[in-house]
Amino acid sequence: MTEQDMQHDTPEPGTAKPTRRTMLYRIGQGLMALGGLLIAAPVVSYILDPGFRRFKRSWIDLGPVSQFPQGHIRFAHYNNPNPAPTDGDLSKIPCWVSHRSDGSFQVFYINCAHLGCPVRWFEQSRLFMCPCHGGVYYEDGSRASGPPPRGLYEYANQVKGGRLYVFGGEIPNLSIPGKTPKDQLTPLTLNGGEVTS
Ligand code: FES
Repeated sequence: MTEQDMQHDTPEPGTAKPTRRTMLYRIGQGLMALGGLLIAAPVVSYILDPGFRRFKRSWIDLGPVSQFPQGHIRFAHYNNPNPAPTDGDLSKIPCWVSHRSDGSFQVFYINCAHLGCPVRWFEQSRLFMCPCHGGVYYEDGSRASGPPPRGLYEYANQVKGGRLYVFGGEIPNLSIPGKTPKDQLTPLTLNGGEVTS
């Protein structure tokens, strides 16, 4: 609608009732404003609310330490604490657990740091290898060769009461760190109480 049309159709205040064309124009404007709000709401929420774009991480029980013999790397999995209703078996999240010879643990996300394919551990060569584009990682998770831009993503972990726990709940990527910094870890709680030993 041109400015000329508008001037023609918009009545002077108090002189006449709005025409049908003016009414339709106003309804159209209202619907466009409503559509804009509906489109903008999730985008604004995403930008302003970190909780909207990230799952909360929490401590996840990987099982008794005895399952992970010292000096070896073992496959493990846990149930996703933030499952979607349609996940089914996909809610089981796999990972690699390394019980190092010094007694400490490293737990790696299974996803390659390139495009996320599941990496496999090869005991004989003591390397993680990615079947998709040939990414290779050393046993400490650092990048050895291939397209991955960095080493494997790692979980923060702790041993309490003879069990191994990892701090997880979302898949990391180049903008979401794997290992949560120590000062951002929440206390490990079981049955509502903090576990201290
Ligand atoms: Fe692993 Fe590309 S996804 S090398």
